[in-house]
Amino acid sequence: MREVVLVLPGKRAFFAGLLVASLPAGTLAAEPDMEAGRALFVGATPACAICHTLNDAQSSGAIGPKLDEIKPDAARVETAIRNGIGQMPAYTTLSDKEIETLAAYVAKATGAQP
Ligand code: HEC
Repeated sequence: MREVVLVLPGKRAFFAGLLVASLPAGTLAAEPDMEAGRALFVGATPACAICHTLNDAQSSGAIGPKLDEIKPDAARVETAIRNGIGQMPAYTTLSDKEIETLAAYVAKATGAQP
């Protein structure tokens, strides 16, 4: 009886360790958060969707270039969001994290990045 009590917690800790070790690598670091990115694309002020066509976000804005066609990589999207370009305003109220999420989302949604 005593042995069982001593052994179980160790096993639990081992499996808990495995779970923690296997989750973040695949889910957080590599894959863009598509849902959060899409929400920002239609929800930022002003919404990217007003001016840009992006199939993944079901937007058909025609003031800016069709993102599905120009397939910008994340760095290009990020530069446009931070600095603005032509008629597109700079987004000074988005956090770094939001800008990164949005940039990774657009790049992935247009197929610019696998
Ligand atoms: C008011 C309309 C408007 C809004 C809102 C807008 N854009 Fe743009 N965007 C434009 C226009 C116009 C251009 C083309 C500018 C030029 O080349 O002169 C552009 C260009 C771009 C480009 C290409 C940049 C390049 O290097 O050629 C990207 C990427 C982009 N926008 C992404 C976004 C994202 C992401 C958002 C939301 C955070 C957004 N845009 C919001 C109008 C807009």
